[in-house]
Amino acid sequence: MKDKIQVHAREVQNWAPRDLEELEALRIHFLSRKGVLQQLFAEFKDVDPADRKEMGRLLNELKELAQDRFNSLRDSLQTGTQSSGPAIDLTRPALQQPLGGRHPINLVRRQIIEVFSRLGFVVAEGPEIESDWYNFSALNFPPEHPARDMQDTFFVARDPDVLLRTHTSNVQIRVMQSQQPPVRILAPGRVFRNEAISARAHCIFHQVEGLYVDKGVSFADLKQVLLYFAKEMFGEETQIRLRPSYFPFTEPSAEMDISCNICKGAGCPICKYTGWVEILGCGMVDPQVLRNCHIDPEVYSGYAFGMGIERITLLKYRVRDLRLFFENDMRFLRQFHPVL
Ligand code: PHE
Repeated sequence: MKDKIQVHAREVQNWAPRDLEELEALRIHFLSRKGVLQQLFAEFKDVDPADRKEMGRLLNELKELAQDRFNSLRDSLQTGTQSSGPAIDLTRPALQQPLGGRHPINLVRRQIIEVFSRLGFVVAEGPEIESDWYNFSALNFPPEHPARDMQDTFFVARDPDVLLRTHTSNVQIRVMQSQQPPVRILAPGRVFRNEAISARAHCIFHQVEGLYVDKGVSFADLKQVLLYFAKEMFGEETQIRLRPSYFPFTEPSAEMDISCNICKGAGCPICKYTGWVEILGCGMVDPQVLRNCHIDPEVYSGYAFGMGIERITLLKYRVRDLRLFFENDMRFLRQFHPVL
């Protein structure tokens, strides 16, 4: 009903009768006892009681708009001031167009890109439908690695070689294959994993991958860049901690925690009373991965990192349930855009 009213309001604004006769036809069509407006008022009785107030207001506004428009068109046609061309009332206030807003995931994605672009990272992209080579093999996943398991990976058309990428690390390979170092890219994108949907997991989510390959890149460089990122994203007081971990495509590998920005280290359910929360995986690019891309590991070294955008957003805005990001509930989305 709301949409209908808007369409009619636009129609009324576009009325452009050339003479009084045409104006009368518009009046009969719109304002008479069997006209459009009366029909709308007749439909009003079926409106959900919760929406009545708003619809009633919109309907009355439309009625007023039509009446005003009719009066001013009649006046100008009668006095002959608008004898040729459409009658346009330039003094009428414009119709309000509802403003759009950015989704929280999009806001955070842009912020991550902004922080790393200050450090010279440029955005790169890769396909969401990927072959086994780019998603797994070139990244050193052994054939029996559990991540390849049917339970995690969505395969396309039952072909074990064609799949939905399970991470944005495929972009590492695509970029290094097409370009010799120095390489300094950031790859945001959607990834897919065959997981049951819950408050903490979803089968579609977003990651940002970082990759820097050049002569003499060290783990200390990685740590410095990540510390800068953590402070920019979560505040100057944020601390980081790197824990040894394992990824097939980095050696050594680490997971990074930030000091819990919610309880400031005092202990809360979000950090499970440890004072730290994990936000990303990282490490030095494994020499075999460089070789797979025809980059000489004797000359070049590099680091890579990958993070989930949902997870960063969850922590930054203290959202309790991941599913909220996918439901498009305006009551949730509005909180990120006070003007909506
Ligand atoms: N691709 C890894 C994941 O999805 C994250 C990662 C990226 C780890 C780059 C190390 C380096 O969990």
